[in-house]
Amino acid sequence: MQIRLDKLLADCGYGTRSEVKNKIRKKEVTINGTIAVKPEQKVNPGTDSICCGGKRLVYEPFSTFLFYKPAGCVTARTDKKEKTVMDYFPDSMRKSHVPVGRLDKDTEGILLITNDGVLNHRLLSPSYHVDKTYYAIVDAPVPEEAAEYFLKGVDIGDEKPCLPAKLEILPQTAEHSVYAAKLTICEGRFHQVKRMFAAAGCKVLHLKRLTFAGLTLEGLEKGSYRKLTEEEVADLMQMASLKNERD
Ligand code: URA
Repeated sequence: MQIRLDKLLADCGYGTRSEVKNKIRKKEVTINGTIAVKPEQKVNPGTDSICCGGKRLVYEPFSTFLFYKPAGCVTARTDKKEKTVMDYFPDSMRKSHVPVGRLDKDTEGILLITNDGVLNHRLLSPSYHVDKTYYAIVDAPVPEEAAEYFLKGVDIGDEKPCLPAKLEILPQTAEHSVYAAKLTICEGRFHQVKRMFAAAGCKVLHLKRLTFAGLTLEGLEKGSYRKLTEEEVADLMQMASLKNERD
């Protein structure tokens, strides 16, 4: 497979097209030991040895990123009016990568971005029971009984009730004076968390996804992202029963 050098570097997360062109201009990139001069040069990532800043590029056909979505942007590839989550990534990734599921415009928190279609599909499928934990601030005290209803599978007006979900009502303290709770669900229905709290008589005022499949936002600033490590990808593959299928 032949691919433009600048595209390959951008796809592998070395920066935007113009950033990687800069690296090539600064002679930071070599192909089979020879300094690369043309960003448009075609290379074969399977057979050519490409180094950037002295480190050999590992070409992976699939890559998954963990993004800290801020509130105020929509979960879409492109949008005529609104800022999208993909606006935070290099342009080259807009065509190849997509968000795993969606967070509402006013929701912040963890969002995976991938070019692995099968993994994406499985992480969203309720059959694979991938847990997501949300922190919600609501407008009224969450009734104690809600924990039991949610665990049994609450009816939010869909054809079927929700799958069992775990609710932890957070105590009100001087430092944390709001009505708040953590909710762990393993599906991704439309506005699910807001609708579940509505079924318990509460309106969600603020929503943040804290975890997705065991991954957290630790070390990330709002609006920033990082590539998943090999171990993290292996864990996701395991969860999605893809490990053996692809080995
Ligand atoms: N549930 C919601 O209601 N909104 C989100 O953004 C995510 C889950």
